[in-house]
Amino acid sequence: MSSRKSKNSNLKHGECISQVQRILRERFCHQIPKGNLFGVQAQYKHLIELLKRTAIHGESNSALIIGPRGSGKTMGTFAENLSFLLEALKKGDRTTSCPVIFILDEFDLFAHHKNQTLLYNLFDISQSAQTPVAVIGLTCRLDILELLEKRVKSRFSHRQIHLMNSFSFSQYLKIFKEQLTLPEEFPDKHFTEKWNETVQGLSEDKNVKDVLLKHFHASKDLRSLHMLLMLALSHITSSRPFIIPTDLIEANHLCSMDSKANIVHGLSVLEICLLIAMKHLNDIYQDEPFNFQMVYNEFQKFIQRKAHSVYNFEKPVVMKAFEHLQQLELVKVMERTSVNTQREYQLVKLLLDNNQIMDALQKYPNCPTDVRQWAASSLSWL
Ligand SMILES: Nc1ncnc2c1ncn2[C@@H]1O[C@H](COP(=O)(O)OP(=O)(O)OP(=O)(O)O)[C@@H](O)[C@H]1O
Ligand SMILES: [Mg+2]
Repeated sequence: MSSRKSKNSNLKHGECISQVQRILRERFCHQIPKGNLFGVQAQYKHLIELLKRTAIHGESNSALIIGPRGSGKTMGTFAENLSFLLEALKKGDRTTSCPVIFILDEFDLFAHHKNQTLLYNLFDISQSAQTPVAVIGLTCRLDILELLEKRVKSRFSHRQIHLMNSFSFSQYLKIFKEQLTLPEEFPDKHFTEKWNETVQGLSEDKNVKDVLLKHFHASKDLRSLHMLLMLALSHITSSRPFIIPTDLIEANHLCSMDSKANIVHGLSVLEICLLIAMKHLNDIYQDEPFNFQMVYNEFQKFIQRKAHSVYNFEKPVVMKAFEHLQQLELVKVMERTSVNTQREYQLVKLLLDNNQIMDALQKYPNCPTDVRQWAASSLSWL
């Protein structure tokens, strides 16, 4: 029956899969906007207003769009605004003069040019020329103004639009769903329906949500979400045509199987013990920041109750090991030390998750058994 069906609107399975992969890969790699930009409408409205004033009313302007990597600067500015711009230009009165819009992506790089001549000239004409000019700079440098020379700065309008990736997890889930959803124009209606149902199911699955939450907390950068989806997408085949939760879990695994695991490989047993102590602290305090003293206490409990193979090091030695972990960027300091905070009480966070630690331990050469058992025990000795 199904073969008869496939003659009219339904594609063959293999064809379907390659089409799905092509469409979605394009979406993930080529930055083709699908649906709306999330959480940045207000900011872009501001930009559109600005460009409108240039395009329609002939006012010159300049502005900087500032936001972290992957926050939609390039896509937003080009995809969203250019379509508007073309419309506006059509409406504008072109008998007088034609407005010119300069968009400088990676704006900060131009600041390194000798004398910042280009920036100087652009900002200068945006202030003085007869022709309406808008200069829009895109950058991820928050300190961009400090990079500008005085004469350049004084010609800049000081309009700044900040994109902050400030969406909530529920919006993030929505983006996840939208990014995976097949468009209505997809040639195989039956497949599209099933695919989109699966995607809906994924977004409600607990394991998938866990994976996404982890990604969300690590970085709201949608590029890293795209990377995750790309890896998951590569698991589908014509015999297994839909993404299942395990695909995402494995993809997450691949994403997080970074150089950190290799770093752990080269640590001393004492440093490994500190990582395990921090893992337990994370379990107990649900990923709240902690300090060295807490890690030290946790380590002491282990030494006193359980350890046969680990030597009880002096506290300064343990501190040294702890600082080494900071240097390796496995542990991150949460706040700048005020002069008064002692090093022991500085709040820190572990930048490895439980799976990363457990995986690294699996491969750790000659890991003492009691240390391994301590890592695996779900409750620390309170
Ligand atoms: N707010 C958003 N809503 C939907 N998609 C977004 C949003 N922000 C970013 N994206 C997606 O993230 C990807 C990266 O966006 P973009 O290239 O615009 O980032 P960027 O800010 O220019 O980063 P970079 O500083 O590295 O150039 C794009 O594919 C886009 O689809
Ligand atoms: Mg960009």
